[in-house]
Amino acid sequence: MHDLHEVVFMPADIKVAVPGGTSLLEAARIAGLRPEAPCDGRGTCGKCRVLVEGNLTLPTEKELAQLNSGDGIKMRLACQAKISGPVRAEFPESRADSFLTVEKGQRKALKLNPRGYRPGQESYGIALDIGTTSIVAELLDLASGQSLGVSSCLNPQTVYGGDVLTRITYAANRAGGVQTLQSEVAGGINRLIENLCRTQGIRAEQVFEITVAANTTMLHLLLGVNPRSLAVAPYQPVFTRETEVSPGTVGIRIAPDGLVTLLPSASAFVGADIIAGLLTTDFHHFKEPALFIDIGTNGEIMAIKDGQLAGTSSAAGPALEGMNITCGCRAEQGAIEAVSI
Ligand code: FES
Repeated sequence: MHDLHEVVFMPADIKVAVPGGTSLLEAARIAGLRPEAPCDGRGTCGKCRVLVEGNLTLPTEKELAQLNSGDGIKMRLACQAKISGPVRAEFPESRADSFLTVEKGQRKALKLNPRGYRPGQESYGIALDIGTTSIVAELLDLASGQSLGVSSCLNPQTVYGGDVLTRITYAANRAGGVQTLQSEVAGGINRLIENLCRTQGIRAEQVFEITVAANTTMLHLLLGVNPRSLAVAPYQPVFTRETEVSPGTVGIRIAPDGLVTLLPSASAFVGADIIAGLLTTDFHHFKEPALFIDIGTNGEIMAIKDGQLAGTSSAAGPALEGMNITCGCRAEQGAIEAVSI
Protein backbone atom coordinates (compact mmCIF):
# COMPACT_ATOMS: atom_id res chain seq x y z
CA MET A 1 0.00 0.00 0.00
CA HIS A 2 1.26 3.51 -0.87
CA ASP A 3 1.93 6.04 1.91
CA LEU A 4 -0.20 9.17 1.93
CA HIS A 5 1.53 12.44 1.05
CA GLU A 6 0.27 15.97 1.59
CA VAL A 7 -0.22 18.18 -1.45
CA VAL A 8 -0.87 21.88 -0.86
CA PHE A 9 -2.45 23.86 -3.68
CA MET A 10 -1.66 27.56 -3.62
CA PRO A 11 -2.72 30.34 -3.44
CA ALA A 12 -5.90 29.05 -1.72
CA ASP A 13 -3.84 26.79 0.60
CA ILE A 14 -6.03 23.76 -0.16
CA LYS A 15 -4.54 20.61 1.36
CA VAL A 16 -5.18 17.05 0.29
CA ALA A 17 -3.51 13.73 1.22
CA VAL A 18 -3.05 11.26 -1.64
CA PRO A 19 -1.18 7.97 -2.11
CA GLY A 20 2.28 8.06 -3.70
CA GLY A 21 2.05 7.59 -7.47
CA THR A 22 -1.03 9.81 -7.82
CA SER A 23 -0.63 12.40 -10.56
CA LEU A 24 -0.85 16.06 -9.60
CA LEU A 25 -3.85 16.35 -11.94
CA GLU A 26 -5.74 13.66 -10.01
CA ALA A 27 -4.71 15.23 -6.70
CA ALA A 28 -6.03 18.60 -7.88
CA ARG A 29 -9.36 17.04 -8.87
CA ILE A 30 -9.57 15.29 -5.49
CA ALA A 31 -8.95 18.70 -3.90
CA GLY A 32 -11.92 20.10 -5.84
CA LEU A 33 -9.84 22.17 -8.25
CA ARG A 34 -10.64 22.31 -11.94
CA PRO A 35 -7.35 22.62 -13.82
CA GLU A 36 -7.38 22.71 -17.61
CA ALA A 37 -6.68 19.25 -19.03
CA PRO A 38 -7.77 19.25 -22.68
CA CYS A 39 -6.25 15.82 -23.45
CA ASP A 40 -7.33 14.44 -20.04
CA GLY A 41 -3.86 13.35 -19.05
CA ARG A 42 -2.50 11.78 -22.21
CA GLY A 43 0.45 14.16 -22.13
CA THR A 44 -0.18 15.47 -25.64
CA CYS A 45 -1.53 19.00 -25.13
CA GLY A 46 0.98 20.41 -22.64
CA LYS A 47 -1.73 22.65 -21.18
CA CYS A 48 -1.85 21.35 -17.62
CA ARG A 49 1.30 23.26 -16.63
CA VAL A 50 1.73 23.73 -12.90
CA LEU A 51 4.42 25.34 -10.73
CA VAL A 52 5.70 22.89 -8.14
CA GLU A 53 8.02 22.53 -5.17
CA GLY A 54 8.60 19.21 -3.47
CA ASN A 55 8.75 15.53 -4.16
CA LEU A 56 7.68 14.37 -7.59
CA THR A 57 8.82 11.71 -10.02
CA LEU A 58 11.37 12.90 -12.57
CA PRO A 59 9.98 14.29 -15.84
CA THR A 60 9.37 11.62 -18.45
CA GLU A 61 10.54 12.03 -22.04
CA LYS A 62 6.95 12.73 -23.03
CA GLU A 63 6.79 15.52 -20.47
CA LEU A 64 10.16 17.01 -21.43
CA ALA A 65 9.00 17.11 -25.05
CA GLN A 66 6.08 19.35 -24.01
CA LEU A 67 7.97 21.68 -21.68
CA ASN A 68 10.29 24.29 -23.13
CA SER A 69 13.42 25.95 -21.82
CA GLY A 70 11.52 29.08 -20.76
CA ASP A 71 9.36 27.05 -18.37
CA GLY A 72 12.11 26.62 -15.75
CA ILE A 73 12.69 23.59 -13.55
CA LYS A 74 9.68 24.27 -11.33
CA MET A 75 7.21 23.90 -14.18
CA ARG A 76 5.72 20.45 -14.66
CA LEU A 77 2.78 18.87 -16.46
CA ALA A 78 0.23 18.02 -13.78
CA CYS A 79 -0.94 14.89 -15.58
CA GLN A 80 2.58 13.45 -15.89
CA ALA A 81 4.19 14.43 -12.56
CA LYS A 82 3.50 11.79 -9.92
CA ILE A 83 3.62 12.49 -6.21
CA SER A 84 6.38 10.81 -4.20
CA GLY A 85 6.37 13.03 -1.09
CA PRO A 86 5.03 16.39 0.19
CA VAL A 87 4.35 18.87 -2.62
CA ARG A 88 3.27 22.51 -3.00
CA ALA A 89 1.71 23.33 -6.34
CA GLU A 90 0.15 26.32 -8.05
CA PHE A 91 -1.79 26.30 -11.30
CA PRO A 92 -1.78 29.43 -13.45
CA GLU A 93 -4.95 31.50 -13.19
CA SER A 94 -7.78 29.91 -15.18
CA ARG A 95 -8.86 31.77 -18.29
CA ALA A 96 -12.25 30.02 -18.34
CA ASP A 97 -14.03 33.19 -17.17
CA SER A 98 -12.70 35.14 -20.13
CA PHE A 99 -14.25 32.67 -22.54
CA LEU A 100 -16.24 34.46 -25.27
CA THR A 101 -19.42 33.30 -27.02
CA VAL A 102 -21.24 34.80 -29.99
CA GLU A 103 -24.77 35.45 -28.74
CA LYS A 104 -26.17 37.47 -31.63
CA GLY A 105 -27.23 36.45 -35.09
CA GLN A 106 -29.99 36.62 -37.64
CA ARG A 107 -33.35 35.55 -36.35
CA LYS A 108 -36.22 34.19 -38.39
CA ALA A 109 -39.81 34.66 -37.28
CA LEU A 110 -41.05 31.21 -36.30
CA LYS A 111 -44.50 30.17 -35.24
CA LEU A 112 -44.09 28.49 -31.87
CA ASN A 113 -46.41 25.94 -30.38
CA PRO A 114 -44.75 25.33 -27.02
CA ARG A 115 -45.97 22.40 -24.99
CA GLY A 116 -44.88 24.13 -21.81
CA TYR A 117 -47.26 27.06 -22.32
CA ARG A 118 -49.70 27.37 -19.40
CA PRO A 119 -52.68 29.54 -20.39
CA GLY A 120 -53.49 32.09 -17.71
CA GLN A 121 -50.09 32.02 -16.03
CA GLU A 122 -46.66 33.39 -16.77
CA SER A 123 -44.81 30.61 -18.53
CA TYR A 124 -41.30 30.61 -19.86
CA GLY A 125 -39.13 28.27 -21.85
CA ILE A 126 -35.45 27.89 -22.57
CA ALA A 127 -33.78 27.03 -25.86
CA LEU A 128 -30.54 25.32 -24.95
CA ASP A 129 -27.52 24.62 -27.13
CA ILE A 130 -25.03 22.31 -25.42
CA GLY A 131 -21.80 22.52 -27.34
CA THR A 132 -18.67 20.54 -26.60
CA THR A 133 -17.01 23.78 -25.45
CA SER A 134 -19.86 26.15 -24.63
CA ILE A 135 -23.44 26.09 -23.40
CA VAL A 136 -25.82 28.82 -24.56
CA ALA A 137 -29.31 29.29 -23.09
CA GLU A 138 -32.00 31.65 -24.37
CA LEU A 139 -35.00 32.50 -22.20
CA LEU A 140 -38.30 32.88 -24.07
CA ASP A 141 -41.75 34.06 -23.09
CA LEU A 142 -43.89 31.09 -24.14
CA ALA A 143 -46.99 33.27 -24.65
CA SER A 144 -45.40 35.71 -27.11
CA GLY A 145 -42.31 33.82 -28.27
CA GLN A 146 -40.29 36.91 -27.37
CA SER A 147 -36.65 36.41 -26.43
CA LEU A 148 -35.92 37.76 -22.95
CA GLY A 149 -32.20 37.17 -22.77
CA VAL A 150 -29.25 34.93 -23.55
CA SER A 151 -26.68 33.53 -21.16
CA SER A 152 -23.68 31.34 -21.91
CA CYS A 153 -20.82 29.61 -20.17
CA LEU A 154 -17.94 27.28 -20.79
CA ASN A 155 -19.20 23.69 -20.74
CA PRO A 156 -17.94 22.58 -17.30
CA GLN A 157 -17.10 19.15 -18.77
CA THR A 158 -14.13 20.73 -20.57
CA VAL A 159 -11.88 20.15 -17.56
CA TYR A 160 -12.24 16.42 -18.30
CA GLY A 161 -11.27 16.76 -21.95
CA GLY A 162 -11.54 19.38 -24.65
CA ASP A 163 -12.99 17.39 -27.52
CA VAL A 164 -15.77 14.87 -27.98
CA LEU A 165 -13.56 11.77 -28.19
CA THR A 166 -11.61 12.63 -25.04
CA ARG A 167 -14.94 13.19 -23.26
CA ILE A 168 -16.22 9.78 -24.48
CA THR A 169 -13.00 8.13 -23.31
CA TYR A 170 -13.35 9.73 -19.88
CA ALA A 171 -16.98 8.60 -19.60
CA ALA A 172 -16.23 5.08 -20.79
CA ASN A 173 -13.03 4.35 -18.88
CA ARG A 174 -13.27 6.16 -15.54
CA ALA A 175 -15.25 4.85 -12.61
CA GLY A 176 -18.24 7.17 -12.27
CA GLY A 177 -17.16 9.01 -15.43
CA VAL A 178 -20.64 9.23 -16.94
CA GLN A 179 -22.13 10.49 -13.66
CA THR A 180 -19.37 13.07 -13.27
CA LEU A 181 -19.91 14.46 -16.76
CA GLN A 182 -23.72 14.37 -16.35
CA SER A 183 -23.67 16.33 -13.13
CA GLU A 184 -21.14 18.80 -14.57
CA VAL A 185 -23.36 19.66 -17.53
CA ALA A 186 -26.52 19.78 -15.38
CA GLY A 187 -24.73 22.13 -12.97
CA GLY A 188 -23.70 24.43 -15.83
CA ILE A 189 -27.27 24.49 -17.19
CA ASN A 190 -28.69 25.27 -13.74
CA ARG A 191 -26.32 28.20 -13.32
CA LEU A 192 -27.41 29.62 -16.68
CA ILE A 193 -31.09 29.21 -15.74
CA GLU A 194 -30.51 30.94 -12.38
CA ASN A 195 -28.68 33.75 -14.12
CA LEU A 196 -31.43 34.29 -16.72
CA CYS A 197 -34.22 34.10 -14.13
CA ARG A 198 -32.46 36.52 -11.77
CA THR A 199 -31.88 39.01 -14.59
CA GLN A 200 -35.54 38.88 -15.65
CA GLY A 201 -36.97 38.79 -12.12
CA ILE A 202 -38.75 35.48 -12.60
CA ARG A 203 -38.62 32.19 -10.71
CA ALA A 204 -37.14 28.99 -12.14
CA GLU A 205 -40.46 27.28 -11.28
CA GLN A 206 -42.06 29.46 -13.98
CA VAL A 207 -39.87 27.80 -16.63
CA PHE A 208 -41.95 24.92 -17.97
CA GLU A 209 -40.01 23.78 -21.01
CA ILE A 210 -36.45 23.32 -22.20
CA THR A 211 -35.58 22.30 -25.74
CA VAL A 212 -32.08 20.94 -26.20
CA ALA A 213 -29.96 21.02 -29.34
CA ALA A 214 -26.57 19.36 -29.00
CA ASN A 215 -24.29 16.89 -30.67
CA THR A 216 -25.06 13.22 -30.09
CA THR A 217 -22.36 12.77 -27.43
CA MET A 218 -23.57 15.75 -25.39
CA LEU A 219 -27.15 14.42 -25.55
CA HIS A 220 -26.01 11.01 -24.27
CA LEU A 221 -24.10 12.63 -21.42
CA LEU A 222 -27.02 14.89 -20.48
CA LEU A 223 -29.19 11.81 -20.03
CA GLY A 224 -26.39 9.97 -18.20
CA VAL A 225 -26.15 7.40 -20.99
CA ASN A 226 -22.66 5.96 -21.61
CA PRO A 227 -21.57 7.22 -25.07
CA ARG A 228 -18.94 4.43 -25.45
CA SER A 229 -20.60 3.00 -28.59
CA LEU A 230 -20.19 6.32 -30.42
CA ALA A 231 -16.41 5.92 -30.49
CA VAL A 232 -16.07 2.35 -31.77
CA ALA A 233 -17.18 0.77 -35.06
CA PRO A 234 -19.98 0.60 -36.14
CA TYR A 235 -20.44 3.93 -34.25
CA GLN A 236 -24.01 3.36 -33.12
CA PRO A 237 -25.73 5.84 -30.80
CA VAL A 238 -27.81 4.40 -27.97
CA PHE A 239 -30.63 6.71 -29.09
CA THR A 240 -31.29 9.24 -31.86
CA ARG A 241 -35.03 9.87 -31.51
CA GLU A 242 -36.54 12.96 -29.95
CA THR A 243 -36.58 12.24 -26.24
CA GLU A 244 -38.61 13.82 -23.46
CA VAL A 245 -37.65 13.63 -19.81
CA SER A 246 -38.81 15.37 -16.68
CA PRO A 247 -36.28 17.95 -15.45
CA GLY A 248 -35.70 16.19 -12.14
CA THR A 249 -34.42 13.03 -13.82
CA VAL A 250 -31.48 14.96 -15.30
CA GLY A 251 -30.93 17.25 -12.31
CA ILE A 252 -32.26 20.42 -13.97
CA ARG A 253 -34.01 22.87 -11.67
CA ILE A 254 -37.13 24.31 -13.36
CA ALA A 255 -40.85 23.62 -12.73
CA PRO A 256 -40.95 20.00 -11.48
CA ASP A 257 -43.83 19.23 -13.87
CA GLY A 258 -41.96 20.88 -16.76
CA LEU A 259 -40.50 19.11 -19.74
CA VAL A 260 -36.99 18.72 -21.16
CA THR A 261 -37.06 17.79 -24.85
CA LEU A 262 -33.94 16.55 -26.62
CA LEU A 263 -34.20 17.13 -30.36
CA PRO A 264 -33.52 14.13 -32.62
CA SER A 265 -30.06 13.33 -33.99
CA ALA A 266 -29.29 11.81 -37.39
CA SER A 267 -26.36 9.60 -36.36
CA ALA A 268 -23.42 9.27 -33.99
CA PHE A 269 -21.68 12.34 -35.36
CA VAL A 270 -24.51 14.33 -36.95
CA GLY A 271 -26.43 15.50 -33.95
CA ALA A 272 -29.48 17.47 -32.93
CA ASP A 273 -27.53 20.72 -33.15
CA ILE A 274 -27.19 20.46 -36.91
CA ILE A 275 -30.77 19.19 -37.26
CA ALA A 276 -31.93 22.31 -35.38
CA GLY A 277 -29.86 24.46 -37.72
CA LEU A 278 -31.36 22.81 -40.81
CA LEU A 279 -34.91 23.27 -39.54
CA THR A 280 -34.35 26.89 -38.54
CA THR A 281 -32.87 27.84 -41.92
CA ASP A 282 -35.34 25.67 -43.86
CA PHE A 283 -32.24 24.19 -45.48
CA HIS A 284 -33.97 20.90 -46.32
CA HIS A 285 -36.26 22.79 -48.73
CA PHE A 286 -33.46 24.56 -50.64
CA LYS A 287 -33.87 24.07 -54.39
CA GLU A 288 -30.28 24.91 -55.37
CA PRO A 289 -27.24 22.86 -54.27
CA ALA A 290 -26.02 24.29 -50.96
CA LEU A 291 -23.84 23.62 -47.94
CA PHE A 292 -24.68 24.11 -44.27
CA ILE A 293 -21.54 24.38 -42.15
CA ASP A 294 -21.34 24.45 -38.36
CA ILE A 295 -17.78 25.09 -37.20
CA GLY A 296 -17.65 24.20 -33.56
CA THR A 297 -15.32 22.11 -31.44
CA ASN A 298 -17.08 19.37 -33.35
CA GLY A 299 -17.51 20.63 -36.92
CA GLU A 300 -20.45 19.43 -39.02
CA ILE A 301 -21.28 19.91 -42.66
CA MET A 302 -24.45 19.11 -44.62
CA ALA A 303 -24.94 19.25 -48.39
CA ILE A 304 -28.20 19.35 -50.32
CA LYS A 305 -28.75 18.62 -54.01
CA ASP A 306 -31.98 17.64 -55.75
CA GLY A 307 -33.67 17.29 -52.37
CA GLN A 308 -31.08 14.76 -51.13
CA LEU A 309 -29.19 15.55 -47.93
CA ALA A 310 -25.78 14.19 -46.97
CA GLY A 311 -23.79 15.12 -43.91
CA THR A 312 -20.67 14.35 -41.94
CA SER A 313 -18.62 15.77 -39.11
CA SER A 314 -15.06 16.11 -37.94
CA ALA A 315 -13.23 17.22 -34.83
CA ALA A 316 -12.51 20.89 -35.59
CA GLY A 317 -11.45 21.74 -32.05
CA PRO A 318 -8.02 20.13 -32.27
CA ALA A 319 -7.29 22.13 -35.43
CA LEU A 320 -8.77 25.46 -34.38
CA GLU A 321 -8.78 25.45 -30.58
CA GLY A 322 -5.59 23.57 -29.73
CA MET A 323 -7.24 20.57 -28.13
CA ASN A 324 -4.90 17.62 -27.54
CA ILE A 325 -2.10 19.59 -29.22
CA THR A 326 0.19 22.33 -27.95
CA CYS A 327 -0.71 25.11 -30.41
CA GLY A 328 -3.96 27.05 -30.54
CA CYS A 329 -6.52 28.07 -27.93
CA ARG A 330 -10.23 28.78 -27.51
CA ALA A 331 -11.90 32.13 -28.16
CA GLU A 332 -10.75 33.70 -24.91
CA GLN A 333 -8.82 36.71 -23.70
CA GLY A 334 -5.38 36.70 -25.26
CA ALA A 335 -6.38 34.55 -28.23
CA ILE A 336 -5.94 37.62 -30.46
CA GLU A 337 -3.00 39.78 -29.43
CA ALA A 338 -3.42 42.59 -31.94
CA VAL A 339 -5.38 43.61 -35.01
CA SER A 340 -4.15 46.06 -37.61
CA ILE A 341 -5.94 47.11 -40.78
S1 FES B 1 -3.73 17.25 -19.73
FE1 FES B 1 -1.62 17.11 -19.32
S2 FES B 1 -0.69 17.26 -21.25
FE2 FES B 1 -2.81 17.38 -21.68
